Amino acid sequence: MTATDFADWPADLLAQEFRGKRVLVTGSSRGIGAAVAAAFAQLGARVAIHGRDVTALEAVAAGMGAGVVPLAGDFADKAEVRRVVESAVDRLGGLDVLINNAGTMLGRVALADIDDEFLQQQFDLNAASAVIASRTALPALIASKGAIVNTGSISGRTGGSAGSSLYSAAKAFQASLARSLATELAPHGIRVNAVSPGTIDTDFHQRYSTPDKLTQTAARIPLKRLGTAQDCVGAYLFLASGRLAGYITGQVIEVNGGQFYN
Ligand SMILES: NC(=O)c1ccc[n+]([C@@H]2O[C@H](COP(=O)([O-])OP(=O)(O)OC[C@H]3O[C@@H](n4cnc5c(N)ncnc54)[C@H](OP(=O)(O)O)[C@@H]3O)[C@@H](O)[C@H]2O)c1
Repeated sequence: MTATDFADWPADLLAQEFRGKRVLVTGSSRGIGAAVAAAFAQLGARVAIHGRDVTALEAVAAGMGAGVVPLAGDFADKAEVRRVVESAVDRLGGLDVLINNAGTMLGRVALADIDDEFLQQQFDLNAASAVIASRTALPALIASKGAIVNTGSISGRTGGSAGSSLYSAAKAFQASLARSLATELAPHGIRVNAVSPGTIDTDFHQRYSTPDKLTQTAARIPLKRLGTAQDCVGAYLFLASGRLAGYITGQVIEVNGGQFYN
């Protein structure tokens, strides 16, 4: 890369990258996914958003601009994952970018209290859904030489706090899945990466953290604040962009303000 090459980059590079691109962001009814989907839509991509409540989704889609496609489905159910991804490919006329972001902790449960049903639910939602979604999207992504970005978590590295073992392990799965599929899908021209958010101030923490815990966490973060959904957007756009990240695959970008502990 020379200075001249860089000068050739257009000022509206991101809009040129994503205008007309077909993007599915799972788990984009709110939080990180909603911020990412809104950014793609703003850059001119054709975006499908996803969550469970169709009425809420329609309102979110309307707020992101004309043409955003709302698709509802419970991602703890493998058939629903397939149906949503097939609908996205159908409605968008193909797929260039798949963001596997749907997930949540489902509760803090100590090992002794983990029953088989909870184990299965955690695995289905936070691990298997990304596999099913990627497999379902594969023909479309092969056709477009597209990109996949998974959402991992800092807890996939640290193990998270007590009661989050299954969720944290599933988030580590997302990072490993990205690394492994990167190798496997490279011959098709498909890049696979992951974003690993730290403590991001979304509804997630209204459910699974206390205000005191969040204050203590913020004080320990080198940048001295919790992250926002908006803080995560750049990493997803970067990894999805063939021009910016065309030689980057199998990587995990940590978005955590310098935080590497619980
Ligand atoms: N916030 C953090 O600190 C943090 C840190 C690391 C990683 N993450 C990960 O980042 C992703 C987004 O989290 P967030 O913080 O933005 O949380 P959020 O605001 O709670 O959003 C979670 C998204 O996932 C969807 N979702 C949850 N369970 C689902 C299910 N059973 N079926 C279909 N969709 C489901 C939600 O849809 P509904 O509206 O239908 O519930 C929503 O769109 C998750 O994978 C999370 O694990 C978050």
